[in-house]
Amino acid sequence: MAHLFNRNVVLGVSGGIAAYKSAELVRQLQELGADVRVIMTRGACEFITPLTLQALSGRPVHTELLDAEAELGMGHIELARWADLLLIAPATADLLARLAAGRADDLLTTVALATAAPRLLAPAMNQQMWRDPATSANVAVLAERGFHMVGPADGEQACGDVGPGRMEQPAAIAAAAAGLFSSGLLAGKRVVITAGPTREALDPVRYLSNHSSGKMGFALAQAAVDAGAQTTLVSGPVELPTPDHVRRLNVQSAQDMLRECLALTPACDIFIACAAVADYRPADVAGQKIKKGDERITLELQRNPDILATIAASAAAPFTVGFAAETTDVLTYARGKLENKGLDMIVANDVSDSAIGFNSENNAVTVLWRNGSRELEQASKAAIARELMELIAKEFGASRD
Ligand code: C5P
Repeated sequence: MAHLFNRNVVLGVSGGIAAYKSAELVRQLQELGADVRVIMTRGACEFITPLTLQALSGRPVHTELLDAEAELGMGHIELARWADLLLIAPATADLLARLAAGRADDLLTTVALATAAPRLLAPAMNQQMWRDPATSANVAVLAERGFHMVGPADGEQACGDVGPGRMEQPAAIAAAAAGLFSSGLLAGKRVVITAGPTREALDPVRYLSNHSSGKMGFALAQAAVDAGAQTTLVSGPVELPTPDHVRRLNVQSAQDMLRECLALTPACDIFIACAAVADYRPADVAGQKIKKGDERITLELQRNPDILATIAASAAAPFTVGFAAETTDVLTYARGKLENKGLDMIVANDVSDSAIGFNSENNAVTVLWRNGSRELEQASKAAIARELMELIAKEFGASRD
């Protein structure tokens, strides 16, 4: 059953009588696991109060594009980036026309232009308006530009007419929204993903580690599940909930991580190394807490095994994907790692930019493989993970042909 766990849904409500069903739609989206933020057009506020949708979504409702206070909180660009999905229900004839024209004359149309997330429309209007060639032409333009549609349904309308134009039922719209995230591209495949930092013990109470949040690896695990893969996360210590349907193995050190990964390799089709593995560990772990004493002490470090390179070099190696976090000459170093570690694919990102580095919500990457490359522009880690998983599925498929 498709779901929306860990998904951020911006629900746009435009001004039609079906707007009253948006309240139920918020509930349905939440029941499937989504975090929902609502944008209402002026017209929508004539049909249902923002307060109703605010109470249901548990978040302030966004209505204005040019509101200094709102922009300070979550402005149109933040909303556009926050969204994993923009769902507009109801989408009136006027809204379809404005979207088709590429207008950005209110908050909802602006977010629709500014987001990289998939966009799903649930049209609702009088049957004659739906049948009008102007509306058909707008729908065709929007479909061509990648907008997804659900409905409209056929039947009796609020105005007394009978025909196509009724908004789909909230449950059907929520199901269509969830369906957008389950591609089945990796159905039946087994994906192992390493994530987070490792902790290298110094003594019983201290360790060496790094600031990796694990967010990218966890977003990839979600994307892998959504693509239908049997997914295992081998994760260092992070503060993140395990995505639904993901098997999670918690580890501490690089050596633990290697052990778990090696055990999983024989039954693994795709191995994605997203963990920020400590390159070195203390050469000796003190049995007791190290006491302070001398002004200076020396720590001897021992090189850790390279988990990714080890898996890539193993017999019957899975399709291997690595990450290269670099601060200079990003692509050159990344291509070097692709070759030196014997990988199928590498994802390069520039961590000198704090907007897309460790712990940030967004990422922007360049993906390299033996005979190709692709840039994925700045977007939420969830959106990047989705695009990455599509690329991985494609190249994995090509490698097995
Ligand atoms: O060599 P570098 O650490 O930059 O390589 C990064 C890539 O290698 C990442 O995919 C990371 O998860 C993986 N790696 C690993 N084991 C290590 C070091 C890095 O799997 N010991």
